[in-house]
Amino acid sequence: MAHHLSDYEKFVNTEALLACQRPIEGLVNTHELFFQVTHQVMELWMKVIAYELRVAIDDMRRGDSAEASLRLQRVREIERVLVDQIAIMETLSPADYHPIRMTLGHGSGSESPGFAAILHLAPEVSAAFAERLRQSGATLLDVHKDRRAHQALYGLVQALMDVDSWFQRFREAHYHLVKRVIGGDVQRKPPAQDEGLRQSRATPIRCRARASCGLDGSRPATRFP
Ligand code: HEM
Repeated sequence: MAHHLSDYEKFVNTEALLACQRPIEGLVNTHELFFQVTHQVMELWMKVIAYELRVAIDDMRRGDSAEASLRLQRVREIERVLVDQIAIMETLSPADYHPIRMTLGHGSGSESPGFAAILHLAPEVSAAFAERLRQSGATLLDVHKDRRAHQALYGLVQALMDVDSWFQRFREAHYHLVKRVIGGDVQRKPPAQDEGLRQSRATPIRCRARASCGLDGSRPATRFP
């Protein structure tokens, strides 16, 4: 007799979800399940991040800085979770990873569709913010000089910087994970990954932060890496 699906199972789509992993009997070792699931979970979170960024872009285009900030704060919290999840991966020893790696072929997280979507959206987020600022008639300098007069915009700037900052932390945590699990064998493609840490492809947001550092328009007070 067919299993009657509960409302929970229908909503979460548990049947499809739990069929997304390689069958237990086909696993190369006892570490592959958590390895695959961690990637899947992170891919799902990146899908949500990309969606939330699109909503935030629309909010900014509608002139709703406060709502955009709330969306970006959600993104920041998801990014925090992604950074945390790298710690789960750190429980994987190089020896236990090796057989899994052999089954991956040329596959690597650099082919992650979720990550690509976020990188793709970053310039759009930045452009929407620039347009919001232009429409407000204030400059970034004005916002920082008198944040009480520009509270919603100031909140938006902070939220954007948080999103960028936690994105960098994810990349950094991942870099250390790769060093730990693959070690000297880490394949570096130009720009090398540690260089990539400094020159995030999400730089437009960071540039705005940098521009705001020298409040009088002089040299930035803080040197960004
Ligand atoms: C033992 C675990 C892991 C190992 C050994 C590993 C290894 C690697 C390697 C060798 C690269 C290529 C570096 C390059 O192209 O420069 C890479 C890139 C990447 N990996 Fe992982 N990875 C692991 C876990 C994860 C997890 C859990 C995720 C989350 C989805 C992830 C996401 C990514 C992303 C997004 C990239 C592209 C990074 C970029 O372009 O900055 N990786 N990974």
